[in-house]
Amino acid sequence: MRLFIVGLGVVGKGVLELLDARRAELASHFGVETRLVGVADSKGVALCEDGLAHAEVLGVKRPGAAGVASLPDGRPLASQDDLPEVIAHSGADVLIELGPTQMRSPRPATDRLLAAMGAGLHVIGANKAPLSTAFAALTEAAAVNNVLLRYSATVGAGTPMLTLARAAVMGDTLVGFRAILNGTTNFILSQMRSSGATFDSALAEAQRLGWAEADPSNDVDGWDTAMKTAIIACHAPAIPPGRSISVHDVRTVGIRGVSARDHADAEAQGQVIKLVASFDATTLSARVEPVRVPIGSRLDVPAGGNVLLIDLKHAGELALFGRGAGAHETAAAVLRDLVDIALSAR
Ligand SMILES: NC(=O)c1ccc[n+]([C@@H]2O[C@H](COP(=O)([O-])OP(=O)(O)OC[C@H]3O[C@@H](n4cnc5c(N)ncnc54)[C@H](OP(=O)(O)O)[C@@H]3O)[C@@H](O)[C@H]2O)c1
Repeated sequence: MRLFIVGLGVVGKGVLELLDARRAELASHFGVETRLVGVADSKGVALCEDGLAHAEVLGVKRPGAAGVASLPDGRPLASQDDLPEVIAHSGADVLIELGPTQMRSPRPATDRLLAAMGAGLHVIGANKAPLSTAFAALTEAAAVNNVLLRYSATVGAGTPMLTLARAAVMGDTLVGFRAILNGTTNFILSQMRSSGATFDSALAEAQRLGWAEADPSNDVDGWDTAMKTAIIACHAPAIPPGRSISVHDVRTVGIRGVSARDHADAEAQGQVIKLVASFDATTLSARVEPVRVPIGSRLDVPAGGNVLLIDLKHAGELALFGRGAGAHETAAAVLRDLVDIALSAR
């Protein structure tokens, strides 16, 4: 399979490393062989029909290096608006889209996915912004163009939450789900609880340790969880054809208002505060908000953990726990999608 990868940050580099590490296994076990025919970062693009060497691409993405435009087959892009055309004419079979999640301006990433599918490429996305704002348009484009769209990495990273959600609703009736989907807020709330820290000092500690970004609003205001909630909720069979649930449909409250006192009060009643995503499949209503849950319950996951609890009419509650982020964890989800596409497209 000829691949075009957009975005060579934490996840993009992880994908190249994992493709190298698992090359023999992918070929022997799944019959998947790949050739990297195109790459793009924020400044440039490189194309080579015979295949770009992964080591060389990783070399130009080391800190301080000049990026993919400096590769022998590379060039700067005058405008990122040119990227969809470049992808469409790259000769790739699969676009792997690993650009930054920009919830307030999802259009460039959505356009890349639509252009790729319009040109007959299968698509793998880890970027939550397009899927959580234009799910119906993207799935329709996949159907119209007879290509496959996969996005496992958008929720749960290496933990196959969407695979579970998709399979669960095939044979049973979805009642709803609850989930913890964001490591940063889980870490901050855990810090506040264990040390009695205020939100501001727990956030500062999270930033010092690399759990939170310099601008933490996407996480602490609940939007990262809301995007993931919308993407899971889009699998509810009760959603009318052509419609989808967007991040803007999710009633979202972040954790800035949670105080040390709230934690102490919860603790006194055998409870802990978590940022919980929930979805009711009857009313199709989704929420993200700080909620008290019993200490030791399934939603009381440790700082680095994510959990999805799916409530089904006949099978009852299904639970899936795992790590929700990380370079190789997320890259593993991308490879899972790649194998899935290779097997499904045969
Ligand atoms: N990290 C995780 O654990 C994780 C988990 C699940 C999902 N995800 C999702 O996966 C995606 C990638 O995450 P990441 O952690 O790898 O992000 P990252 O480290 O910030 O890397 C983003 C990459 O996208 C490139 N980029 C930025 N603007 C671009 C543009 N306009 N056109 C083309 N490329 C552009 C950047 O280029 P430069 O290198 O030139 O800056 C960089 O290579 C995000 O959407 C994220 O939400 C990440």
